Amino acid sequence: MDAFSYVGGVLHCEQVPVPQLAEQFGTPLYVYSQATLETAYDRMAGAFAALSPKICFSIKSCHNLHMLRLLHSRGAAFDAVSIGEVRRAIEAGADAADIVFAGVGKTRTEIDEALQLGVGCFNVESSEELAALADAATVNGKTTTAALRVNPDVDAKTHPYTTTGKKENKFGIDIDEARTLFSQYRKHPHLQLNGIHVHIGSPVNTVAPYVETVQRTLALIDALAKDGINIALLNLGGGWGTCYQDSDAPPIEDYAAAIVPLFAERNLAIHLEPGRSITANAGILVTRVTYCKQARTRKFAIVDAAMTDLIRPALYDAYHFIWPVAPGNDQTPKGRTPDQAIPNAETVDIVGPVCESSDFLAKGRSLPPLAAGDLIAVFSAGAYGAVMTSQYNSRPRAPEVLVYGSRARVIRRRETYDDLVAAERDI
Ligand code: LLP
Repeated sequence: MDAFSYVGGVLHCEQVPVPQLAEQFGTPLYVYSQATLETAYDRMAGAFAALSPKICFSIKSCHNLHMLRLLHSRGAAFDAVSIGEVRRAIEAGADAADIVFAGVGKTRTEIDEALQLGVGCFNVESSEELAALADAATVNGKTTTAALRVNPDVDAKTHPYTTTGKKENKFGIDIDEARTLFSQYRKHPHLQLNGIHVHIGSPVNTVAPYVETVQRTLALIDALAKDGINIALLNLGGGWGTCYQDSDAPPIEDYAAAIVPLFAERNLAIHLEPGRSITANAGILVTRVTYCKQARTRKFAIVDAAMTDLIRPALYDAYHFIWPVAPGNDQTPKGRTPDQAIPNAETVDIVGPVCESSDFLAKGRSLPPLAAGDLIAVFSAGAYGAVMTSQYNSRPRAPEVLVYGSRARVIRRRETYDDLVAAERDI
């Protein structure tokens, strides 16, 4: 599944023992596997190859420039949701034409800058945004391509905070309104409005919501064709599931097997916007136990990583498999599930030092006994991990290290106190 494995009772990233990385770079520490990233990208490309899709990697899931460079060299295009992400993609080597600019609230300044840069396609989410884009293109003397993000009203059956395709969500445009807008803008001299974008949530751990979404969208495309409007592009968004614990999502090939045949006889350009399915299992967060504390009813392992380093458990109650980095041969985990039959297991909450009760990485986990100084790994942290960090409690952000084979290099240095106050000093 990924290149994080226990060899001789010690966790390795590819060929590098994780304790060595912790020693060299300190903790907390993000560690990425290049091979895992590339394999995930190649599998996505292979699974959907019959549709010749443009794979627009969703920068928001993991925006490190070095990771973006790797994906760019693999052939990825990019999905950006702010001008900052657009700039990251360009700095990573992307051609602006291979960037899709999405997001529900692009400002006029962002739209103007993206037009000047020559961004390939705008995914538009409201009639007011469409009017702003058309005006900006006219004023800037540019012609651009746009897709309307349609809200298909499909339940992706994921966390309410990451469900985006239901009619009560802020995202996208109702199908009826979309029809009106397509016909209103059909002959605009500066706007080629010929695409449809859908994104129903993240992660979507079953195939059926995608099938329903594609069927509804193809029906809309057919209805538009009857009105004389030709849709050339369909962007299926992201949300493809990945493995946080064993078999919680089907492999990407299963999604593709259900979706690809729906496009038989269709002549549509396809965009995909995967993030998590490419990056989640390419990264772990390594942290060290600072103290253990036996409270009246629970044992706590207080670690040096916090919600500031990985906010997913606090924000979505998200599950990340956690295990000691060097548990020894007899306590090597079998797969990634919470129910491991191990001798002397203890039930423990893994918590950080931040002054919030939501500052936990896991609750009630059955783990080999932990002691101060032990290293533990938080798995599947490569997506929405480092990108969602903060400096709350004046905590400098953790560094990121990329492993390739037996080599490791820093791709983001650890922040310092000076970084924390830089924007406040000398003003
Ligand atoms: N396209 C659009 C329009 C999106 O809104 C998203 C994610 C993606 C693509 C990429 O989805 P992915 O393939 O990565 O699932 N912070 C949350 C996830 C928020 C996702 C937001 N949109 C988490 O940690 O689970």
